[in-house]
Amino acid sequence: MSRISIKYRDPLSGEITPPPDKSISHRAIMLSSIAEGKSIVRNFLRAEDPLSTLGAFRQMGIDIKCSSQFSVLGSQDNEIVIHGRGLTGLTEPGDVIDCGNSGTTMRLLSGALAGQDFSTTLTGDASLRSRPMQRIIRPLTEMGAVIESEKGGYPPLRIRGGQLKPITYKSPVASAQVKSAIMLAGLYCNGTTTVIEPGRSRDHTERMLRAMGAEIDIKNLEVSIKGRATLNPLDMTVPGDISSAAFFIVAGLLVPHSEILIKNTGVNPTRTGLIDILEMMGADIRLENERVVSGEPVADLNVKHSRLKGIDIGGDLVLKAIDEFPVICIAAAKAEGKTKITGAKELRVKESDRIATMAAELRKMNVDVEELADGLIIEGREKLRAAVIQSHGDHRVAMSMAIAALAAQGETTIEDAGCIDTSFPGFIKMLESLERKGKEK
Ligand code: S3P
Repeated sequence: MSRISIKYRDPLSGEITPPPDKSISHRAIMLSSIAEGKSIVRNFLRAEDPLSTLGAFRQMGIDIKCSSQFSVLGSQDNEIVIHGRGLTGLTEPGDVIDCGNSGTTMRLLSGALAGQDFSTTLTGDASLRSRPMQRIIRPLTEMGAVIESEKGGYPPLRIRGGQLKPITYKSPVASAQVKSAIMLAGLYCNGTTTVIEPGRSRDHTERMLRAMGAEIDIKNLEVSIKGRATLNPLDMTVPGDISSAAFFIVAGLLVPHSEILIKNTGVNPTRTGLIDILEMMGADIRLENERVVSGEPVADLNVKHSRLKGIDIGGDLVLKAIDEFPVICIAAAKAEGKTKITGAKELRVKESDRIATMAAELRKMNVDVEELADGLIIEGREKLRAAVIQSHGDHRVAMSMAIAALAAQGETTIEDAGCIDTSFPGFIKMLESLERKGKEK
């Protein structure tokens, strides 16, 4: 699938279950590989990014079996069994590890590799090779790892692990990938490692490690981990990914007469900035059936078409919605008035420079957009114009522009849409199922 065309006119209606959470799927493989014994992970995300992590641990000798029912949309049957070999059970890979498009694979894995008594080379696709790694190289080097990179701190990374020492690290950037890399390395230290963040990033690593028996201490923006823990295996079910549900939340809000129920969605408070932002814009989103599944808060989301208004977005909300800005830009493009996003310069170093790519693609749809160094100003429009859109190889740009297409006059084409498979194979099928139900209504 390299190109998709979209021109729906019917309301969206019905129920969907978003694919399993990507962040949690990565962590489930990594942590159970270094736990002692057999872990079972249900509803694992079978998309390219977590499969990069799975492949990496298989290359390091971990036996991981996937159930035969493994489907792309995710289900209870997507079960994987990981035979963990403990903190020191990984073996030197015979080849370079290819992390594909996945920043989470490269950055978190680097933390675990820093504690191994062998050397590994990590590489990735063109997008990943242009993403900054200095943010993990600096603390891991301080802990004792030797890491070579391309000039300026870009992949490929050559990591020579060894005996690490615990540190207290004040991270200049609020990033779960940085925090998690240091915590993983911290597992290999004698003593306590602490990370202090400027803002509270997603806490899936802390939750999972605690569930596995590690000693984790959290004080405001400070997270500490006691090293040399023996990790107990996992028996868990991954919740649906709010970052994938995001596209349907915005679609339901924008397309007139729509009402959809998005089931089994993770609503970890470090990830729900999208809901807060959309509610500030006037959205009708109701959380139903709130519960906790495998240590993570989960709910069903009832979304109804709403008239949105432009707002200012900044501060802590940015971090809680960091992956949702491409689709927030679409909501802003259809809102009444101006939306100003600031404090979001991290968007420039995601799978693409999402400030530049979203501005360029929205302008093709006749939206007035001003680029700021750390955000965007978007002037809402009643009607968007259909266009030929480039994904820039960024899955979230491709899916966000597909949602914009639902609100545009005529047929929109999205080029280079194969990147959607990095996080959400089956995205278009799911969209079509909601439109079919809308037509029947
Ligand atoms: C992720 C953390 C975030 C997020 C990424 C997934 C994770 O990145 O943007 O998609 O799984 O830890 P940063 O830590 O760089 O903010």
